[in-house]
Amino acid sequence: MDPNRTVRKAVIPVAGNGTRFLPATKAMPKEMLTIVDRPVVQYAVDEARQAGIEQIIFVTSRNKHSIEDHFDDAPELISSLSRSGKTAQISELEAMLPTAGSVSFTRQQAPLGLGHAVWCARDLIGDEPFALLLPDMISFGARGCMAGLMDLYSTVGGNVLGVEQCAPEDTSSYGIVGKGPDVPHGFSVTHMVEKPPAGQAPSNFYLNGRYILQPDIFSILARQQRGAGNEIQLTDAMLTLSSQQPFHAHPYDGRTFDCGSKQGFIEANVAFALARDDIGGAVLASVKALVLSHEGRTRVA
Ligand code: G1P
Repeated sequence: MDPNRTVRKAVIPVAGNGTRFLPATKAMPKEMLTIVDRPVVQYAVDEARQAGIEQIIFVTSRNKHSIEDHFDDAPELISSLSRSGKTAQISELEAMLPTAGSVSFTRQQAPLGLGHAVWCARDLIGDEPFALLLPDMISFGARGCMAGLMDLYSTVGGNVLGVEQCAPEDTSSYGIVGKGPDVPHGFSVTHMVEKPPAGQAPSNFYLNGRYILQPDIFSILARQQRGAGNEIQLTDAMLTLSSQQPFHAHPYDGRTFDCGSKQGFIEANVAFALARDDIGGAVLASVKALVLSHEGRTRVA
């Protein structure tokens, strides 16, 4: 295996039906819910591009057309903005528009799990290493987590996983890795298990939804039996691949918001709003006032 094989392509699975956000997601993909003024999925695409990714492959499902439209040109909108002199908005839309031909869509026809969703991208990836970004998980830091995975990958090759530490009682919500010896930018992975019950996890390092994987994962996924949650789990396939190839983990030095949960989604909105030059000060004042008023009401009650 050539450790310097370039990672050019990224898979972004967007096939989930978002039941946790009903009724908001009745007629709209969960990936199009907004964090401040950008849809959730835009953050993963920007992070991938920041890390040097050239090709994005979305694994979609029914009723996800608005994601395709979001990453397409919008000539009527641009003309209308142009007539109103809204040049800043035009520049912003143009900056986020992917180069022609650099975005592809394929469908996961049945909700069989993350491992199956990734397998659906096999022909579009071909025989090369690829990045995988789960868009519910949003990186918040000086730079996105995927750039750090690329740093580690450039020295160790193989397969590289983004991790963070969680509370011991939260291991049953995530994939968890076992920690081996340290390397620059990370550590060697000794074990992987999907959603272990509290007290049975090999560590509290959880998979934060960022991966660089070798294409050999696809032949394993093709045979992968259902695992946790009765779904075809990527973590189980990675465990099999780890008997043939090295896996390293990169602890992210920012933090990841789990926007698959309502609490994480709201936290992300507040954190990104507070970090903005244009609205951060006003939002901070509002949040402080809301907290004071809430605590006052709680005390009175
Ligand atoms: C998936 C992965 C899990 C990972 C998590 C991050 O789980 O299977 O290993 O920790 O994403 O969000 P899911 O959230 O799809 O249940």
